[in-house]
Amino acid sequence: MKRIIVTGGMGYIGSHTVVDLIENNFEVIIIDDLSRSEEGVLQGIKKITGVLPKLYKVNLCDKEGLSKVFETEQNIDGVIHFAAFKYVDESVKLPLLYYKNNISGLLNLLEIVKQHDIKNFVFSSSCSVYGNIDTLPVSENTKLNPSQSPYASTKVVGEMILEEAKVEIPSKFISLRYFNPVGAHMSGHIGESPAVIPNNLVPRITGTAHGKFEKLMVFGYNLPTRDGSCIRDYIHVVDLAEAHTAALKFLSNQENTNTHEIINIGSGNGVTVLELINAFEKTTGKTVNKELTEPREGDVIAVYSDNSKANRLLQWQPKKTIEDMMLSAWNWEIKEDK
Ligand code: UD1
Repeated sequence: MKRIIVTGGMGYIGSHTVVDLIENNFEVIIIDDLSRSEEGVLQGIKKITGVLPKLYKVNLCDKEGLSKVFETEQNIDGVIHFAAFKYVDESVKLPLLYYKNNISGLLNLLEIVKQHDIKNFVFSSSCSVYGNIDTLPVSENTKLNPSQSPYASTKVVGEMILEEAKVEIPSKFISLRYFNPVGAHMSGHIGESPAVIPNNLVPRITGTAHGKFEKLMVFGYNLPTRDGSCIRDYIHVVDLAEAHTAALKFLSNQENTNTHEIINIGSGNGVTVLELINAFEKTTGKTVNKELTEPREGDVIAVYSDNSKANRLLQWQPKKTIEDMMLSAWNWEIKEDK
């Protein structure tokens, strides 16, 4: 059984990936400081898979603590690195926090990966690295425009570190550029942490329908798109999780080390904000009280992926529909004991 360390494995994408890895017969060891997730996630993972993964409560900036984990856990085949802060607005207010957490954590981890000669490494990147885009769909060859937030900058710098450090680390690296992850596991046992007040679209839609928020603000209504609202590429978090397992399998089959592949993970479809709200209302029978308003600062108008490289290299393709995304997000929203 291959042994994988997942940093940030208690988080939203991390926990869904842990489930998929276990279901694919990997042994998973989680490192997570629980700063933005809850211990209960571990029970959710157990309810789905029957396996309770080992958890080390360590912050990646604590190099000594991190080293101890890798000294205790020998024969690690790969690392999937999720642990990072991800809120665009927060990063604009607290850039130092974002650089410190996201970059120091990555550097510590890479030094340890080098020291322990761990061969396979998957990095969580983001479509936000593309900045404001003028050609759609976005492929991995699309030129990166200036980043719109410190959060996005930490992902640009993270990828750059891998690209430059690959010469001195005999490992194989993949950066996965996620588009907009949404939804939750169909079992209802894991989803996005309720501890954080959300400002992303889908939790705002479900929270408004549930009465947690008075209304949903639709940011942008007379933009140059088919209905005036922003276009994004929504990807079901379970499909996204599967891309990580596929990435690890791909890396294990590669002989050459000192390599770094960058791969988009999106559905390949652009969906407007209003279309998504409609899909939610149709799928669940709930209505969302909404108000059309001015665009949000820093938002790009339209972005969606060319996901053909993921298909070609990883043999990965998304399977879930927008309806699956909306239904699972709603089930998670109304679950009481989370
Ligand atoms: C951004 C980043 C993404 C990052 C995510 C984390 C870009 C291109 N993407 O996604 O990499 O992982 O933040 O937070 O920078 N909207 C509303 N009303 C709301 C909330 C959102 O209309 O109350 C609209 C937004 O204007 C946007 C769409 O919904 O058009 C999606 O927004 P959101 O879910 O916040 O994600 P992004 O900002 O696209």
